[in-house]
Amino acid sequence: MSVDSLLTAEAVDPAFATLTPVHRASTAHGWWRSAVIYQIYPRSFRDLNGDGIGDLAGITAELPQLAELGVDAVWLSPFYRSPQRDAGYDVSDYCDVDPLFGRLVDFDALIAEANRLQLRVIADIVPNHCSDQHVAFQAAKAAPANSPERDMFIFRDGLGPEGTEPPNNWQSHFGGPAWTRITEPDRQPGQWYLHLFDSSQPDFNWHNPAVHAEFERVLRFWLDRGISGFRVDVAHALVKAPGLPDWGGRPDGNSTDGFPGQDAPMFGQPALHDIYRRWRSILEEYGPDRILCAEANVDPLPRLAQWVRHDEMHQAFNFPFLHAGLDVDRLRHIVTDSLVSLDAVGAPSTWVLSNHDVVRHASRFGYDGPGPRDGDGIGPSDPQPNEQLGRRRAAAATMFMLGLPGGAYLYQGEELGLPDSTSIPGSLRQDPAFARTGGARIGRDGCRVPLPWRSSEMHAGFGAGRDPWLPLPESWSNLARDKQQADPASHLNLYREMLAQRSTLQLGRGSLAWVEDYCSHTSLGYLNGSTLVVMNVGTEPMPLPEGEVLLRSSAADRNDPLGSGETIWLITS
Ligand code: BGC
Repeated sequence: MSVDSLLTAEAVDPAFATLTPVHRASTAHGWWRSAVIYQIYPRSFRDLNGDGIGDLAGITAELPQLAELGVDAVWLSPFYRSPQRDAGYDVSDYCDVDPLFGRLVDFDALIAEANRLQLRVIADIVPNHCSDQHVAFQAAKAAPANSPERDMFIFRDGLGPEGTEPPNNWQSHFGGPAWTRITEPDRQPGQWYLHLFDSSQPDFNWHNPAVHAEFERVLRFWLDRGISGFRVDVAHALVKAPGLPDWGGRPDGNSTDGFPGQDAPMFGQPALHDIYRRWRSILEEYGPDRILCAEANVDPLPRLAQWVRHDEMHQAFNFPFLHAGLDVDRLRHIVTDSLVSLDAVGAPSTWVLSNHDVVRHASRFGYDGPGPRDGDGIGPSDPQPNEQLGRRRAAAATMFMLGLPGGAYLYQGEELGLPDSTSIPGSLRQDPAFARTGGARIGRDGCRVPLPWRSSEMHAGFGAGRDPWLPLPESWSNLARDKQQADPASHLNLYREMLAQRSTLQLGRGSLAWVEDYCSHTSLGYLNGSTLVVMNVGTEPMPLPEGEVLLRSSAADRNDPLGSGETIWLITS
């Protein structure tokens, strides 16, 4: 039976006709509703000029590989002018390309190539904070207290008779206090400024209309250059509660599972929604196809749904899904909750397993006991993940994810099954979290290591010049793209096939009903249209469901029962 003939509802096995759908297929317009968006981390993608750091020309040169992989769009992490204290998330000029990555003409060439390949491009925008080298912050430091220049940021007098104590008890996400005291132009110790991240990343004051105007200008600048939208960095943090009250929860505002406390004064303030309504209206001036995606670490899911109401953002990252790991009870709950909560506001769900801030899922799943804490990384002296196990389970989890209705985000290198690099010496680590905690937190460098492209070339084909900014482990030449292209059973070819089938079967636009026969404490099964997806994370094999097998996450034991750490897609017949 051909896959095309199975796309109709009639093709559903009558045995499943009575299932209760959690989510029905959508006919709403909008490319993003089912898109697979591939995150490019520019400094680690491809180094064409040989300086050891990836660049825009390198991205342009390899875009055909991504079109061939079958993704719909790419999201570029920041490439703007920046001192690179937080790998570009410390922006000193929002409307220019950092010379490390090229020039504006290189950006234009990237867009032209993406257009030719029918790939959309989304840029990262960082509105919560800038770099301390930004002209506005330099001007604020040079101006007196209570001046319009200082009012672009969050300056306050310190506490205590000499003002020697920070204005409140907030802590930086990267460790240490969230306040730094400046030396005033008269050389006296002066006011303090707020930085939820590194001290080189001062937070903007979003109670000031001038900040709104500046970011509206930035949005238009990149929209005019042809981008399809923005991923909005720490979108939940821009507005702080009036009076900046002390916070009694975890110092960085998060609860113990990594999500913001419901009433944290630095997160999720109601006035944020007006900002994104305004941004949405600006995007709509450019037509219906430009999108906003929130990096909003907001829990629970019904609360996250408020971010994607019809006149706000189009999408929000589903971090609860990422953090659920392979806990099937939790996964089932989160998938159901996501679809139901987002359906209630007419928004698509998104799914994601890896990004530049967390240990790659091929490493997270390589532990039998508890793995690393997200954001903390894995160091050389930590218990090491089992690479083979991790890669196998990562394939299974990705296949579970890509069968779900909604949009999906992939992080560069996951299609190669890359693990985190755990052997980076402390002297080469660049994540500010490592330095700010004296190495107590390993940080995120392990998931940011440059990509291996061509096994026989210098630095596995990342760049033919200076040593890459982080070393590629030697074993990665075996994972290089060219080697995997030549191997039909490779992780890369599994991704290519998953994306092709997902598109043919229109799974991103599809429906979802849990199939209880395949749901247990170690397995999950759901039906999307005519496609049955079953994931087994238990230690025992499961009997194979009946039907025409489309794909299995491990091609090696195709004829066996569904093994441990495996997912299958099949057409019920
Ligand atoms: C980005 C991080 C960055 C932080 C501060 C995040 O959410 O994804 O990489 O360090 O924002 O900009």
